Amino acid sequence: MTSSSARPARPSDAPATPTPTAAASGRASGKAILLGEHAVVYRRPALAIPLSALQVRADVLRSNGPSVLHSDLYDGPLAAAPARLGPTVTAAAAALDALGVADESIELRIASNLPAERGVGSSAAVAAAVVRAVAAAFGGALDAAAEHELIQRAERVAHVSPSGLDAHAVRAGAPIWFEDGAVSPVTVATPLTFVVADTGIAGRTREAVAGVRTRHDEDPRGTTALLDELGELTRDARTHLATGDARALGAAMDRGHAALGLLGVGDPALDALAAAARAHGAWGAKLTGGGRGGCVLVLSRDDESAAEVAGALRAAGAAATWTTTVEATT
Ligand code: MEV
Repeated sequence: MTSSSARPARPSDAPATPTPTAAASGRASGKAILLGEHAVVYRRPALAIPLSALQVRADVLRSNGPSVLHSDLYDGPLAAAPARLGPTVTAAAAALDALGVADESIELRIASNLPAERGVGSSAAVAAAVVRAVAAAFGGALDAAAEHELIQRAERVAHVSPSGLDAHAVRAGAPIWFEDGAVSPVTVATPLTFVVADTGIAGRTREAVAGVRTRHDEDPRGTTALLDELGELTRDARTHLATGDARALGAAMDRGHAALGLLGVGDPALDALAAAARAHGAWGAKLTGGGRGGCVLVLSRDDESAAEVAGALRAAGAAATWTTTVEATT
């Protein structure tokens, strides 16, 4: 498109060129679970932090033909989108329905730098951005609870029985405590720098959650003990955040990684990245999200060592790394 500065000046009496209707947009960010994944499905608490470097933007234009989707993963009629985009299709349909415009058509464009199936909230973030963009396009106001429920509908297509943690975390923009279906803010005494490293292996949250369920059915006592331990570690982590004890927080993350491994959601590639981070001075490291692939979350000592740890993680085979600082709240 020609920029307006390069365009010859239009005589003042010429008819104005109609401006195309601007697309309405919605955004959401990635998330990392600091502690409590899987245990949160069994009503233990969880802590999540935003990954603001990872963003999804959805743009919606009202249209006349059949609804279409433009994205890196698929370009074509929404109705013919592949099964892996089921959550996105569900989010769009659920939002249109909730706004009372189920018969309307849209042109939906999704731009995202969140890797899919890596435990950093891609499915929930895309759903959140789509719901927000559809609401903006049709001028409908959705309150936080309605927005959450629509994202959860999409998440149920992705994971069957999502706890609701991801749907909250991708909209929060700040660390959150999630317990009994409710979210509350978290006190952070000192800034903390985290590095997220991607194994490059697709995590399979649905299978991982089903695997924990099977383990629970087969060994309820042993599994409950692990879930209780994860719950305790999450409570400890909240205290360490509030007191600024990064060393203790890192130790809790290490123990969380071990417990998740015993729960059956680990992977040798996750162990290798966590070990590389610890060997390069990180306070702690653990898998984050569904596991069985996906990412590790590393607590570094400071900004400088975060850069060093990120380099070491890439040298150890990480497909990508992202660094994020959680600011102090006090
Ligand atoms: C996935 O990001 C987090 C899990 O705890 C599933 C859930 O909370 O629904 C594994």
